[in-house]
Amino acid sequence: MSFAAQIRIVEVGPRDGLQNEAGHVSVADKITLIERLADAGLRSIEAGSFVSPKWVPQMADTAAVLAGLTRRPGVSYPVLVPNETGLDAALAAGVGEVAVFAAASESFARKNTNCSIAASLERFAPVLTRARDAGLRVRGYVSCVLGCPYEGAVAPGAVRDLAARLYQMGCYEISLGDTVGVGTALAARRMVQTVLEQVPAEAVALHFHDTYGQALANIFACLDLGIGVIDAAVAGLGGCPYAKGASGNVATEDVVYMLNGLGLETGVDFGALRDVGAWISEILQRPNASRAGRAA
Ligand code: HMG
Ligand code: MG
Repeated sequence: MSFAAQIRIVEVGPRDGLQNEAGHVSVADKITLIERLADAGLRSIEAGSFVSPKWVPQMADTAAVLAGLTRRPGVSYPVLVPNETGLDAALAAGVGEVAVFAAASESFARKNTNCSIAASLERFAPVLTRARDAGLRVRGYVSCVLGCPYEGAVAPGAVRDLAARLYQMGCYEISLGDTVGVGTALAARRMVQTVLEQVPAEAVALHFHDTYGQALANIFACLDLGIGVIDAAVAGLGGCPYAKGASGNVATEDVVYMLNGLGLETGVDFGALRDVGAWISEILQRPNASRAGRAA
């Protein structure tokens, strides 16, 4: 097996994690979380989202979080934006990177963004043009790549076509989301192989939720396809508000532990990361969902 020499971890806990946590996290604690994650060596930290506060109240304070954050050179703090309103807020907050999100299933697109897949792409077109003109990088998410909570199975070809469309529209990286966390290793590998028919491996990221405990196996099954970017959430925070039963993202601690064992460089200090996971679990008064975090 041959792997990318370096793996970049995109820490999504402050966004994908906290957007689905019932416990309240203050702006000050969100800022502390993001700054401690940067201290631990993470270089891409999703800091929040500019979406409708009626849809996701947990992210309503994203502007305040970004305003209070001490941003470091070399660290990217992307935010999710579903439309131009979100982009306006992101530009006002002075971020260098945004992410748009689409779904490979029609039912999920409607539940998550109140529009069809085609309409979501129409909304993204001006977002991508304006973001590029402003010098921002844009990441693209595809949700439901290994299954949809409403429609069940999702065809790998549908994931490939949507990923290719987002890439052609100007997204520098396409993050493939197993939103519900239902995937298994061979299905994950075949889905990624299908996407690679049209998107280069350097532009593909894995974003796997751990509902059925398969996320690490799924990541490992895809790593030797040349994938160099993995999304993860410290302490396995979160889930997705529109995917019933979905648990959090794969825990960052678990991913770092596995990659350390494989001899792959992430730049992340496991011990510092473990301490952040224990701390945020305490703040949320919930069990730490990272097995490696609990064991270490
Ligand atoms: P809509 O109701 O169809 O939108 O929602 P609208 O344009 O009719 O606007 C309705 C109201 O929302 C208006 O306010 C707008 O101003 C406001 P009102 O007049 O009623 O007071 N509004 C906004 N406010 C703040 N920021 C904005 C914004 N846009 C409109 N950007 C919309 C459509 C897309 C806005 C809504 O469905 C939405 O916000 N959805 C976001 C859902 C979300 O954040 N989901 C979680 C993130 S995706 C995810 O977790 C998956 C991922 O992790 C990958 C994976 O795991 O697969 C990325
Ligand atoms: Mg997610």
